[in-house]
Amino acid sequence: MEINEQKLFDIAFKAMDHAYAPYSNYKVGAAILCDDGNVYDGGNIENASYGLTNCAERTAIFKAVSEGAKEIKAIAIVNGTSEMSKPCGACRQVMSEFMKADAPVFLANNTNQYKEFTFKEILPLAFSDKDMD
Ligand code: THU
Repeated sequence: MEINEQKLFDIAFKAMDHAYAPYSNYKVGAAILCDDGNVYDGGNIENASYGLTNCAERTAIFKAVSEGAKEIKAIAIVNGTSEMSKPCGACRQVMSEFMKADAPVFLANNTNQYKEFTFKEILPLAFSDKDMD
């Protein structure tokens, strides 16, 4: 499948259909293109305990890694408001495990506008296990 950012956004928006967000009513969708050639999607999954909520980005990443993907080549993140999606700190740290510094991060709101960043732009000074050598 030929993948561009528009296709990734389409998949991310569809993933919002399966988001489970009865507490915040804020649905998020993510789509990631991986090194295995597949696109994995995910929505946020909330919990009555609040703290056990899983963000859309991590849902997609954990689906991908559990299917054998090793690297995220690109990610698109969307939500249903006019404010651009911004991945939380926990998701950025999880992304850093599987994304190279120059991999593209596409962030959109509920209009057709989006912004593109590199991964290192959204997580400068990332912690790495190499720091411990
Ligand atoms: N959320 C995400 O899915 N991704 C983010 O990067 C930020 C927050 C979700 C978690 C929760 O279900 C809702 O948005 C409100 O915080």
